[in-house]
Amino acid sequence: MVRKRKGNKKSNILLYSIVASVITILLALVVVLNQGSTNSEKPTFTSIAYPVVKLYRTSLCDCCGKYEGYLKSRGVQVQTVMMDPQGLLDMRKKLGIPSQLFSCHTSVLDGYFVEGHVPLEAISNLLVERPDVDGIALPGMPQGSPGMDGSKTGPLKIYSKTGDSITIFMEL
Ligand code: CU
Ligand code: CU
Repeated sequence: MVRKRKGNKKSNILLYSIVASVITILLALVVVLNQGSTNSEKPTFTSIAYPVVKLYRTSLCDCCGKYEGYLKSRGVQVQTVMMDPQGLLDMRKKLGIPSQLFSCHTSVLDGYFVEGHVPLEAISNLLVERPDVDGIALPGMPQGSPGMDGSKTGPLKIYSKTGDSITIFMEL
């Protein structure tokens, strides 16, 4: 009788350790699977690291300062360079920005130009996808774009430019 009880205890301990191992393996699997799903998620515009933005502007336009404030309020470092209008035109020419894409100020980051009041969603797309383009632009100064007053009258059309070709990059 005593021997039999001892045997039962032994098999109970064995059973417990098997159950404990299975639970540990399942928990580890859950952790691994969770990590996998967060890694495959597309980064959002708040979770990516932005390079320092160089912003060329003139003192003529108040909305340029507001756009600078928009970027800074979202944690983007901005280095502002004040220019006279001719200097800004020369800078655009150097960057290869055609006149039909002109806005009031020009930003440069990571080798791309970003012309005008471009929302950060488009800039983060540019940095994540790294398309083979010279830059992106929101021509003019549309109402309701970042740094501009008023509300949008339609989607903001952001263009990309590569060499001589201009295409829609995204609409926001
Ligand atoms: Cu402006
Ligand atoms: Cu501006």
